[in-house]
Amino acid sequence: MKEYANVTYLNHPVLTHKIAILRDKNTPTSEFRTVVKEIAMMEGYEALKHVATKSVEIETPIEKTVQPMIVGKKLCFVPILRAGLGMVDGFTALVPTARVGHIGLYRDEVTHEPHEYYCKLPEGIEDMDVFVVDPMLATGGSAVDAIKMLKQHGAKKLHFVCIIAAPEGVEVFEKEFPDIPLIVGALDRQLNENAYICPGLGDAGDRIFGTYRY
Ligand code: PRP
Ligand code: URA
Repeated sequence: MKEYANVTYLNHPVLTHKIAILRDKNTPTSEFRTVVKEIAMMEGYEALKHVATKSVEIETPIEKTVQPMIVGKKLCFVPILRAGLGMVDGFTALVPTARVGHIGLYRDEVTHEPHEYYCKLPEGIEDMDVFVVDPMLATGGSAVDAIKMLKQHGAKKLHFVCIIAAPEGVEVFEKEFPDIPLIVGALDRQLNENAYICPGLGDAGDRIFGTYRY
C-alpha cells in the first residue's frame, strides 16, 4: 500500500484490541456502542492534537497563570449518518463545547453509490476546524461526498477520522483530497464483491443501532 503524508494509521495495542471487539460478530449492540465511543475518544485525542488554542488567564489555588485552552466554538464535529453518530460522544467528551453538524448519506445497496438525505451545519463553519467522523471508509464514496458538501458550505480546515479503512477507500480519498488529514484506526485487507470491508466488522450502522437481520 502506497504511503501518503496526510494519512495516519493508529497502530496502538489498546486500539487494535478494541477494534477486535467490534469485529467479533458476537459482540452485542450495547457493548458495540460503548466500544465505538471509546475508540472515537482515543482517535479524537490524536486527531485534535494540532487544534488551535488561546491563552486564558486562570487562578490556581496558588497563583494566577496563563494557560492554553481549546476554543470549542471554533471546532465542529460532523458525523456521517447513521454510523458516524456512534463516534460523536467520544469526540464531545474531549471538547464538550464543540459544535456538531450532521450529514446524512446512505449507500445504494446495488451501486454502492452514496445518496444525500440530510445536511445541517453550524453557522460560521468557514472558520472552524471540522472533523468528519464515520467508522467505515470502504469505497470512499461517502467520505468524498461528505467532504465535498462541507467544502460547498465553505469549510476549509477539514479532517476525516474513521475506525476501519479499506485500501481502496484510502486511495480514492487521497486522490481527491491529498491535503486533508485522514486518521485511520485500522487498515484492512480489501473490499468484497458487495463493497464491504474484509475482515471489517460488518455494517457499522446496523451494529450500532441493532437493525441487522442476520
Ligand atoms: C456506511 C458507513 C459509511 C459508508 C462507507 O454507511 O457508515 O458512511 O457506509 O462506505 P463507502 O466508503 O463505500 O461510501 P451506510 O451507507 O451503510 O449507511 P448507515 O450508516 O446509515 O448504515
Ligand atoms: N459500510 C459498512 O458499514 N461496512 C462496510 O464494511 C462497508 C461499508
